[in-house]
Amino acid sequence: MQMKNIAVLTSGGDSPGMNACVRAVVRTIKYHGLNAYGIMRGYQGMIEGDIVELQSRDVSNILQRGGTILKTARSKEFLTIQGRQKAFDNLQKHNIDGFVVIGGDGSCRGALQFYKDFNVPSMATPGTIDNDLAGSDFTIGFDTAINTAVDAIDKIRDTADSHNRLFIVEVMGRDAGYIALHSGLACGAENILIPERKESMQEVIERIADNNKRQKLMSIIVVAEGDEMGGAHHVDKYLKEFYPNLDSRISILGHIQRGGSPTCADRILASRTGYAAVEGLLNGRSQAMVGVINNEIAYTPFDEVVKLTQPIKADMMEMIKVLSV
Ligand code: F6P
Repeated sequence: MQMKNIAVLTSGGDSPGMNACVRAVVRTIKYHGLNAYGIMRGYQGMIEGDIVELQSRDVSNILQRGGTILKTARSKEFLTIQGRQKAFDNLQKHNIDGFVVIGGDGSCRGALQFYKDFNVPSMATPGTIDNDLAGSDFTIGFDTAINTAVDAIDKIRDTADSHNRLFIVEVMGRDAGYIALHSGLACGAENILIPERKESMQEVIERIADNNKRQKLMSIIVVAEGDEMGGAHHVDKYLKEFYPNLDSRISILGHIQRGGSPTCADRILASRTGYAAVEGLLNGRSQAMVGVINNEIAYTPFDEVVKLTQPIKADMMEMIKVLSV
């Protein structure tokens, strides 16, 4: 079937670069002389019929902006068949033939289920700061998020150094340790705690003892929010059981990691995947996430994306031990 009307939505947590991807999707659709629609607030807007037609000019001047002009949501109603039925009825009202969803694995799961229910073709692009998706070396927003975290941790190091203090910095990432790993390595953190690596707490204890011997009193621990130690407060409590006089401070970076102008790398990734998602749909592809693997566009079926995660590279895992002294 030749598509005439294609929609785009952003779904799940926002990430820097989503706007660049919306722009690429809309402009590619318009390049082919077709109609582009924006669905507001993710799948929730699809259920509520919050759908607007978009022209090329409507996506001017958004490439460099964080957040998403289409707004986003995590829709509980879309998990129900009744919700998805309403969403389907609204797509039909606008004669929408297929859509591109920019989001994480929950968004792919939604699109897959929707296809099983109503046979509506869709493609996804990897929009999440967490970098936890199989099918793309990097996700849209990850590079910006780690640069934001690096900027913050560098500043924290100044105070850690001046006061000879230990800082525990908690970063986002949900169940994945990518943000902690990359920002920790890039800032020379003395310890990095991530869910993918289990033995790390004992090492922290030993390293503090070793540092104390060497009179090295300042130290930075970067902990992923999803680490089995349960975040910065738990790490601090645990350490104080061993070192009651530890002069420690906690810094939880939080949502600053989700905002801000996307880096060049994120703008390019967003533009490449947005363009390839539309080209894929027009060439008869569907039910796949577009990613970039080894600098090549790659289409990974949704059922693989939702089953797999992206394992951390062995050399990076090893570097945690080797470089942090
Ligand atoms: O998935 C992106 C993310 O920022 C995670 O890193 C974090 O765990 C979660 O979203 C926070 O979600 P919310 O903004 O809904 O609190």
